[in-house]
Amino acid sequence: MADDVFVRITREFKGERADLIPVLQKIQSIYDYLPREAIAKTARWLKISENEIFGVATFYTQFRFMPRGRHHVKVCLGTACHVKSGEQMLEVAKRRFEIEPGETTKDGEYDLERVVCLGCCALAPVVTLDDKIYGQMSVLKLQGILDEQQKT
Ligand code: FES
Repeated sequence: MADDVFVRITREFKGERADLIPVLQKIQSIYDYLPREAIAKTARWLKISENEIFGVATFYTQFRFMPRGRHHVKVCLGTACHVKSGEQMLEVAKRRFEIEPGETTKDGEYDLERVVCLGCCALAPVVTLDDKIYGQMSVLKLQGILDEQQKT
């Protein structure tokens, strides 16, 4: 992250602790994740530790610490999806890709996200792959979709 970009991001803030979240949001809006270097610069600027920033940022599911993958998988764990075994769908995706939500596979192909509601609760449990919505998922259905996807 270039110094001038960081200066541009922070110049409208006072450099107080309360600026942390809005500054991280700005950084993420530019890079689509929080680069390590940007966290280090933010820590120096706010005079707090990088660990503290990680601690705060990991509390909010909106922040990512890795670049996105080429394909995006979202598993809904809103109430309707949760009661219809959404957690099992998340487990399938985690095992398949060997990543946790918010991470990207080593080859950069897939990222995984846990979301709160995709707005189609009648189809619960719901998973999306890129722009496509898959409803009434089961473990077997999801495995089949991921098998097909990974063949391409
Ligand atoms: S709770 Fe999953 S789509 Fe609404």
